[in-house]
Amino acid sequence: MLITGTLLLPDEREGGHGLRLSTGSLIVRNGRIAEVREGEPAGRPDLGGGDAMILPGFIDAHLHLPQFDSIGADGLELLEWLERVVYPAEARWADPDFAGAMALRACRQLASFGTTGIGAYLTVHHGASLAAARAVESFGLRGIVGQTLMDREAPAELTRPAMQLLAEADAFVESLKRRPRIEAAITPRFAIACSPELLVGAGAIAKRTGSPVQTHLAETEAECRRVAELFGGTPYTEVYERAGLLGERTILGHGIRLDDAERATLARTRSVIAHCPTANTFLRAGSMDRAGLLRAGVRLALGSDVAGGPDRSMVRVARAMLEVAKARGDAPPTAADCWRQITAGNAEALGWTDSGRITPAAWADLVVAAPDVPWRDAPDPPARLLYAWDDRWITATLAAGRLVYSRG
Ligand code: GUN
Ligand code: ZN
Repeated sequence: MLITGTLLLPDEREGGHGLRLSTGSLIVRNGRIAEVREGEPAGRPDLGGGDAMILPGFIDAHLHLPQFDSIGADGLELLEWLERVVYPAEARWADPDFAGAMALRACRQLASFGTTGIGAYLTVHHGASLAAARAVESFGLRGIVGQTLMDREAPAELTRPAMQLLAEADAFVESLKRRPRIEAAITPRFAIACSPELLVGAGAIAKRTGSPVQTHLAETEAECRRVAELFGGTPYTEVYERAGLLGERTILGHGIRLDDAERATLARTRSVIAHCPTANTFLRAGSMDRAGLLRAGVRLALGSDVAGGPDRSMVRVARAMLEVAKARGDAPPTAADCWRQITAGNAEALGWTDSGRITPAAWADLVVAAPDVPWRDAPDPPARLLYAWDDRWITATLAAGRLVYSRG
C-alpha cells in the first residue's frame, strides 16, 4: 500500500526527540512500514495525496474501556463517582458478551479519533476481560490490557478473594502470551480496593512474568487519606514499592499528590506516571505538577482516563496538558512536545519500541488527516495543528496496516 502526504517524522537532530514535517511517501507491507521516502512522491497513492498529513496513530496510555458509556457524570468526587457511576457500569460486564461488544464499540470510537494504541483497564470479571482483550485484538488496536483486581472497599459483585484474582491474573497473562499486538497488564485498581496480600501477589506475578503493571496513584485528597488509614500511614508510593509493583513497566495514573521522597522513588524505579489532565479537571482532583515531576526525573505518559476524562481524542488531552501547565504558571510543553507525547512518547512509556513513529519496520499504525486551515507556513506549524485540530480532519486510521476507520 502506498500512502503519500506531509509526514510527521522523528527528528534525529534532536536525538530523535524532536519532530519534523516532510513531504514524502510510505510503503506499508504486512502490517508494518516497509519504506519511508522523502521528497515529492511518485505514483498514485492508495491513501493520502497532496494535502494530506500522515501522523503516527495516537496512543492513549490510560483509559477504562468499561467506562465508555459513562462519560459526563458530573459533580461527584472520585470515590463517590466510583461508587455511584463507575461501579454500576462495570457491573454490567458480568456478561462477557456485553463486555466484548462494548469493547469493540470503544475501539471503533477510538479509531475514529485516531487512537491506535491503548493502556486499558477492563473489569474484575475474568471472562469479560478475556472477551474484551479478544475484541481489542480482533479490531486491530495495539494494547496493554488488564483485568482489574479488587478484593475490598467496592461492591460485593465487583470483588473477589485475593487468591482467586491472582490465579485469574496469572491465567490472563498466560492466555495473551506471545500475541503480537496485545499484552496482559497486572492491574490492581488502586490501593484502597486491594488488600496488602493482593498487592504483594500482583507484584510477584508482574515480576515473574515480566508483565506491565497499571494502577492509580495519589489522585485525590480523600483517596490519599483512605490509603493512609488502610496502610498505617505508609506513603502511597511506598505501598506500591513494598508490594514490588514499581518498575520501568509500571504505569501509575494521575500522581497529583506526591512528596519529594515519592518522586525520587518513582524516578529511581523508572516508573511512569500517566498524566490525565482532562480527568483531573473533570473530577476536580487538582492539577499535576508536570514540570516538577520532569525535574525530579520521573517518566511521564499521557492518558484520557475515559470516563474520568470526558475526551476520547488524544489531541484534546495533549492540548489540556499544555493548558493546565499554562494555568499553573509552569513552563508549558511546546506543541511539538504534545504531538511527541501522544505518539513516540507514550510508545516509549508503554515499552513499545516499534510504535508511535513513522520509521521503517514500525507497525503501520497511522492517521491520515486533511487539515482545513493553512498550517505549512504557520509560524509554528505543530501549534497551528494542535490548536485548530478537528477530529473531522481524520480521513483514515490504519492499525497494523488495516483500515480501521475511514471517513464517509
Ligand atoms: N481510581 C481508582 N479507580 C479509578 C477510575 O476508574 N478512574 C479514576 N479516574 N480514578 C480511579
Ligand atoms: Zn483511571
